[in-house]
Amino acid sequence: MHVAPDPHPSGARPPAIPAQFVPRHVAVVMDGNGRWANERGLPRNEGHKAGEKSLVDVVAGAIEMGIPYVSAYAFSTENWKRSMDEVSFIMRFTTEVLTRQLETLQAWGVRVLWAGRKPKLWNSVIKQLQYCEEQTKNNTVCTLVMCVNYGGRAEIADATARIAAEVAAGKLKPSSISEKTIEKYLYNPEVPDVDLFLRSSGELRTSNFLLWESAYAELVFLDVLWPDVDRRTLWDAVEVYARRDRRYGGAVDKISSHSSHQQ
Ligand code: IPE
Ligand code: IPE
Ligand code: MG
Repeated sequence: MHVAPDPHPSGARPPAIPAQFVPRHVAVVMDGNGRWANERGLPRNEGHKAGEKSLVDVVAGAIEMGIPYVSAYAFSTENWKRSMDEVSFIMRFTTEVLTRQLETLQAWGVRVLWAGRKPKLWNSVIKQLQYCEEQTKNNTVCTLVMCVNYGGRAEIADATARIAAEVAAGKLKPSSISEKTIEKYLYNPEVPDVDLFLRSSGELRTSNFLLWESAYAELVFLDVLWPDVDRRTLWDAVEVYARRDRRYGGAVDKISSHSSHQQ
């Protein structure tokens, strides 16, 4: 049995949005921790610490809205460029957050998945991610994909290498490779495409997050630093998302009856 998350302390409730306009999969770029800390005269790692509660609250908000998949960008394949001090802090901190929050996620019925590459990633982090996956594998309320040592290009390259191995082994014909084939070899093939791609901190780029899966995602960029994000930020983004006209390349006439160009 699972329990519902406590409501937000402000008393805010999720906006009433018709089910067909609620995204199935929200991808979140948790950006702005360093700036948040530096603005306060603190070292960057204090910003990472302050971001833990934001992630937990966003997951609570996703559950309250009935969003079944949330992907959280925690560490990218490019983040190894940072100082040794910051990288090792994030490695330890990621393990600690997963350890600290497992009980809450379990109580809420959240299934944890990991998306990312093993090489270079600390063993302690891999072990804790795999432990969380194992412990939560039967949960069905919401899936939280922790993207750690994740890169969109790395994911596509890894899929390509596995497909090439199948071809070399004579199990797959090159002429039968389709988009569906590539999807099958992504890190978590059961996770659907991204509907809403949300980035905090005002940066207008994807930074290599879920490239394949976000091909038709609606992009929403909010000018709030990650430690200041809570479930209401997610709900604001979903309201923006719900007003978007998703066409997927299709088109239909919607001729205005007030048009001055009518004959
Ligand atoms: C996001 O915040 C967290 C990680 C990338 C791990 P940043 O650390 O990128 O913070 P800013 O963008 O420098 O403010
Ligand atoms: C993206 O943010 C990665 C994560 C949030 C984990 P970055 O801060 O690393 O991206 P850039 O450097 O602004 O592109
Ligand atoms: Mg950043």
